[in-house]
Amino acid sequence: MDKKAMKFATRAVHAGQHPDHETGALVSPMFLTSTFVFTPEKMERYMNGDKEGIFTYGRSRNPTQNMFQEKIASLEGAEMALATASGMAAISTALLGCVHAGDHIIACKTVYGGTFALFTSIFPELNIDVTFLPEMTTEALDAAKRPNTKAVYMETILNPTLEVLDLQPVFDWARENKVRSFVDNTFTTPYLYRPIEHGADVVVHSTTKYINGHGDHIGGAIACDAAYQEKLRSSVYQEFGPVPSPFACWLGLRGLKTLHLRMRGHCENAQKLAEWLEQHPKVESVSYPGLKSHPQHEIAARQFENGFGGMVGFCVKGGIREAQKVINKLNLAYYAVSLGDLDTLVEQPATMTHGKMAPEDRAAMGIQDSYIRLSVGVEDVEDIIADIDQALAEI
Ligand SMILES: Cc1ncc(COP(=O)(O)O)c(C=O)c1O
Repeated sequence: MDKKAMKFATRAVHAGQHPDHETGALVSPMFLTSTFVFTPEKMERYMNGDKEGIFTYGRSRNPTQNMFQEKIASLEGAEMALATASGMAAISTALLGCVHAGDHIIACKTVYGGTFALFTSIFPELNIDVTFLPEMTTEALDAAKRPNTKAVYMETILNPTLEVLDLQPVFDWARENKVRSFVDNTFTTPYLYRPIEHGADVVVHSTTKYINGHGDHIGGAIACDAAYQEKLRSSVYQEFGPVPSPFACWLGLRGLKTLHLRMRGHCENAQKLAEWLEQHPKVESVSYPGLKSHPQHEIAARQFENGFGGMVGFCVKGGIREAQKVINKLNLAYYAVSLGDLDTLVEQPATMTHGKMAPEDRAAMGIQDSYIRLSVGVEDVEDIIADIDQALAEI
């Protein structure tokens, strides 16, 4: 049976998995090696560009990394994937493959804090200019486009506000205008959305989150066509060296086998929790794309499949201190950065991930001081609700 024709869950389990030739081990061993032994003939073939099945040095290629990449590419519906040492390494490497000094990027108004710092402090030093667009409409994109615009950058669900962009028109606009489109698919994962199937050029991930899913790996990935992957490999990737360790790749491979099962649990719990929060008297507002009250609920329902993700945001009545009181009182949910783990994690963007931002920049992104972002885990949802309920009683 053609592996590409298999359903998502089957590919999550089988893609990129090659039982070991010598021992028959079903789970491939991890290749913890920095260098590889080969022959002068193989080296000649490699130098002539035929790199298939040849490994030379761990910064260029590693079999465990290849398997992880194969699984990600299969799930994203991409020709190729490239694993990186972190999500930020994926974002910077992917963009620097086509954006150079003097170029311009158009980005959606709200992006992950690290991406915002890259766009507003590092890229300006490299003479790369970024325009943040309040609305990603084709009219706004036309107005923002310059002769040197090389990339348009988006997140599938905006972090941390959980707004949803209508992405298809942006991909179409990018194609028509010969601008490369980049999408951070960390929050939705390919189980809910596969941007490349809708016309996106490049997908980036923090695999630290749902892709690995167990909170024990830092990594990133770029999914794209074969030509762009080769372009990255032979330039930025090769010389900046943002490679992941074989162990991180091995963990990612194992984590991905249950992506569909985990995402089902995250989505189901998040939906129940968001509906419960919405009727709580101490809660000012709730942001979850699966709620009818979410401003882009219809877009999310049309755009995503299998659910609306595991991230829920809410504002408590009061301000920064009331939110902190609630957080302090939690017993089950952990106060921690990151997301996509099996455990429920809680963060307050105004004092954590987006705390370094000027308050006016935060306000422009729609981040309120009393906003709490939950990465809903796969515990029993009744226990998660009971924990938040007793914490809300504090205010
Ligand atoms: C949406 C999103 N993209 C990228 C990143 C960066 O990933 P990493 O921490 O793996 O570098 C994060 C981190 O939280 C994120 O939330």
